Amino acid sequence: MELRHLRYFVAVAEERNFTRAAERLHIAQPPLSRQIQQLEESLGVLLFERGSRPLNLSDTGRFFYSHAVQLLAQTAELESMTRRVGKIERSLSVGFVGSTLYGMLPKIIRRFRDENSAVELSLHELSTMDQIKALKEGRIDVGFGRIRHEDPSVRRVVLREERMIVALPLGHPLTVSKAELSLHDLLGETLIIFPKAPRPSFADQVLAAFHDRSLKPHRLYETRELQIALGLVAAGEGVAIVPSSVYGLKRDDVSYMNLDDPNLVSPIIMSMRMLDESEDINAMLKLIYALYVEEQMEFLPPGKR
Ligand code: BEZ
Repeated sequence: MELRHLRYFVAVAEERNFTRAAERLHIAQPPLSRQIQQLEESLGVLLFERGSRPLNLSDTGRFFYSHAVQLLAQTAELESMTRRVGKIERSLSVGFVGSTLYGMLPKIIRRFRDENSAVELSLHELSTMDQIKALKEGRIDVGFGRIRHEDPSVRRVVLREERMIVALPLGHPLTVSKAELSLHDLLGETLIIFPKAPRPSFADQVLAAFHDRSLKPHRLYETRELQIALGLVAAGEGVAIVPSSVYGLKRDDVSYMNLDDPNLVSPIIMSMRMLDESEDINAMLKLIYALYVEEQMEFLPPGKR
């Protein structure tokens, strides 16, 4: 059995159709069917249920699929790490979710470039789930996201738990009647959540915060990204729950208020390949902790500085 067989098998299993799998692999369908047949013969098992449309994996096929996917991911990881070890030019590709740009990310990147001028740094906006995929395929080396996703080949470090705050239209009655808010106070409002896709995202952390307290927002408005959510808040369309670093993004048509519950947080998580012990990644982690010590005060929520 060769790696090629695993790639072909995974494509057929995921597409559940030989024609689509052949297109995805950029090969013709007859050789693909022959390779799958050869694979079944060499293993002495049936990987697909015969005659099923769309194609279904057999029980044995499902077992084989879960291991084949892991083996392919490890192969991609080995390829990218070996390339990195052998590279004369040093490079670091960083994936990030948009909301981290309002926190420490710009400072981290500037400081890293200043201190590591020999490293070619590139930035890629990716959702947390896309970061995991990109890490395993060697397209990025580090990811900064907000979703806790378990993957055996990815190491996660929770850098900090960022408080959530509320963005309200300037002059909203809640901004004059209360010093800080609870989620309960927001139930009568339209709750603007972001990003709409891909999920899970920060939007689901906000919805989970309500759900965990047996609360249901009266009306939801899903939008593509944080900047649009803030624009809609400014226009009086509703209120939005945002990470507290957004407070730095001063707008004169939006008021920010603290939430009274310290458990209302969204983590900032650094992810890297499990076996990647590159000195550049360690340097970045050290630099982040040093910046946290320097900037500690800036990350207390408004009103608590
Ligand atoms: C932060 O705001 O703490 C942060 C943002 C992006 C990367 C690392 C840390």
